[in-house]
Amino acid sequence: MKITMIGAGYVGLVSGACFADFGHDVVCVDLDPAKIEALRAGVMPIYEPGLGHLVASNVQAGRLSFTTDLTAGVAGAGAVFIAVGTPSRRGDGHADLSYVYQATRDIAAAMTGPLVVVTKSTVPVGTGDEVERILRELAPDAEVAVVSNPEFLREGAAISDFKRPDRIIIGTEDARARAVMQEVYRPLYLNQAPLLFTARRTAELIKYAANAFLATKITFINEMADLCEAVGANVQDVARGIGLDNRIGGKFLHAGPGYGGSCFPKDTLALLKTAEDYEVPSRIVEAVVQVNDARKRAMGRKILHAMGGKARGKKVGLLGVTFKPNTDDMRDAPSIAIVQALQDAGVKVAAYDPEGMDAAKPLLPGVDFKADPYAVAEGADALALVTEWDEFRALDLPRLAGVMKAPVFVDLRNVYPPEEVRRHGFAYSSIGRP
Ligand SMILES: NC(=O)c1ccc[n+]([C@@H]2O[C@H](COP(=O)([O-])OP(=O)(O)OC[C@H]3O[C@@H](n4cnc5c(N)ncnc54)[C@H](O)[C@@H]3O)[C@@H](O)[C@H]2O)c1
Repeated sequence: MKITMIGAGYVGLVSGACFADFGHDVVCVDLDPAKIEALRAGVMPIYEPGLGHLVASNVQAGRLSFTTDLTAGVAGAGAVFIAVGTPSRRGDGHADLSYVYQATRDIAAAMTGPLVVVTKSTVPVGTGDEVERILRELAPDAEVAVVSNPEFLREGAAISDFKRPDRIIIGTEDARARAVMQEVYRPLYLNQAPLLFTARRTAELIKYAANAFLATKITFINEMADLCEAVGANVQDVARGIGLDNRIGGKFLHAGPGYGGSCFPKDTLALLKTAEDYEVPSRIVEAVVQVNDARKRAMGRKILHAMGGKARGKKVGLLGVTFKPNTDDMRDAPSIAIVQALQDAGVKVAAYDPEGMDAAKPLLPGVDFKADPYAVAEGADALALVTEWDEFRALDLPRLAGVMKAPVFVDLRNVYPPEEVRRHGFAYSSIGRP
């Protein structure tokens, strides 16, 4: 089947390459000519492990191509996926659906035959209804069905998540659309990935409910970490102790500097806006958003506190700035608020990140980016581990202590055993551990 992916970002590019790898004929359309040119030249516009190889092999096999020409991309397709961004709308936190609706209008003008239009972007309940209304208004004679198929892949593990999903949610009540979606996902279905068919609005809400639940789990353990610090308990043991209960589960119980990234912050906000519009307040999610927002800046204060409070003119080195390892994504990364808090206190900040520095530079003005962790530590009054890249898991601690002005280590990801770091003469603090 010919599949068209509108939007070649983290989701569109990974999904498109994986669909091609299943044997489908995939065209990725993006309105950013630089992105398409780079992809045609074999250069990945994002950092995602394994993506370059997957794209290259499917391009070579003739199953994957890239274009800015939406009309040509959509012609003859059996399914068109909308995978454009849905960022928070400036000012009010609603999801900005302008890219989705523009893509819809473009599809209406370009479609040539019976078509299934699938929203893979994360969109509020009712967006599918509006997409369908636009298509029917602009192409009244077209045979078209609109499906919600939210995506659950995680950056950094996107390919394996897409190819081995816990579940595939398909929101449609249209028989033909259901058959097309079964055909699209047949290779995964054969691999026993459960396909869950629901009503379209239900599918849209599942995505927000999933992200809000995960954000709640993270925020819960972060608050427990604060309590651990106050009472002298160890949050890693608390997480293990509760996570072994099957009803709770051990995942997403790693205390840290607060969630960030391209999804949780904007999706929790958008869910609150939907809840507000329907006059069904979601108090738990409201609290999660507030607690998480406050936490990021508090991490900056934690670093200041570790230096003894008097910070003006001092130098702090940050290890990692992306919102998590194995991605170059800086959207809503905790490092942004941490750097701001440090700079507000008159601290000079240096940083190193294995893949995120190009994306970080415009977002972290005034930060001195270095080539490796040891250059960051040079002359620093404190070092903070912000993102747990593998590269930071086995640092040469004596070497770091040797080049720092004062050996203060703030481990915001609980990567190191405290005794190991302290043995090398560091004043060490972490999250929720004595
Ligand atoms: N990034 C993730 O981990 C992730 C995971 C699950 C779901 N999602 C959701 O998927 C959607 C896309 O996220 P992303 O991170 O891939 O975004 P992104 O910003 O990386 O990519 C979006 C792409 O769409 C392109 N685009 C915008 N309007 C277009 C149009 N009319 N025609 C063609 N191209 C257009 C942009 O140029 C951009 O390249 C969002 O709704 C997001 O919430 C993201």
